[in-house]
Amino acid sequence: MFKKLTLSAVTALALGAGAAMAAGGAGHVHDVDFSFEGPFGKFDENQLQRGLQIYTEVCSACHGLKHVPLRTLADEGGPHLPEDQVRAYSAQLDIFDAELDDDRPRKPSDHFPESSLSNAPDLSLMAKARAGFHGPMGTGLSQLFNGIGGPEYIASILTGYTGEEKEQAGVTFYENTAFPGGWIAMAPPLYGEDVEFADGHSNELHHEAEDLAAFLMWTAEPKMMARKQAGFVAVTLLFLMTVLLYLTNKKLWAPHKGKKFDL
Ligand code: HEC
Repeated sequence: MFKKLTLSAVTALALGAGAAMAAGGAGHVHDVDFSFEGPFGKFDENQLQRGLQIYTEVCSACHGLKHVPLRTLADEGGPHLPEDQVRAYSAQLDIFDAELDDDRPRKPSDHFPESSLSNAPDLSLMAKARAGFHGPMGTGLSQLFNGIGGPEYIASILTGYTGEEKEQAGVTFYENTAFPGGWIAMAPPLYGEDVEFADGHSNELHHEAEDLAAFLMWTAEPKMMARKQAGFVAVTLLFLMTVLLYLTNKKLWAPHKGKKFDL
């Protein structure tokens, strides 16, 4: 018995240490107050449009967004671009059409292209794939109010370069305080002032990083607003139901309350 207990204690300790070590390898992610956080948070249309511009001018050279239909750029609650702009944006991106056996311009019904660099991951779902459950905001209700941590992770990666580089087996790695393990194979994609915004909005590095992170949150969860609304209605209805049931219960049992029974 004692032997068994010691054994399980040792196993538990070993597992605990493993988890602690894995956690030690995680990078530093800073909190950002995004407009879409909280139970009533909304995407900021202008911010999504700026994010799209940075993605298009910088990130799309390597990364794709293959799960995102181009037509959703016109969605209300999303970037909300006018239809003709969506058509024009789609048309600058070619796609191979098997029926024509040739390339043709994309239509709004097509998706964004895939990553053009094989080791650059697709970014469509990145904001949900990363730091979703172990971000700086913890879990549960805290996530509802502070967000899931994925967009913060992306903003932190983009601003987390230290300037140090090293080469390993012919690949250059860049030191990054947010990337788990500390060294990432992506050269710093943004330095600040990488794009010019038509409305003259700030293009400082941390602003660009936040706009991009917001845009990637939208690509990962375009229907977030609708989901929050439905959730709110559901919770309100459940609350009303609870109150009604409580009152019904009271009323039903009121005649019997305080009665003494002769047994
Ligand atoms: C020159 C090509 C290139 C450009 C441009 C580029 N990236 Fe990357 N990116 C990569 C590569 C390669 C990786 C894989 C790095 C690794 O796994 O070490 C990567 C990885 C990432 C990751 C994933 C990190 C993780 O947790 O795995 C994110 C997020 C990312 N890039 C965002 C961006 C954003 C946002 C932009 C535009 C501002 C951008 N990248 C521009 C090549 C690029």
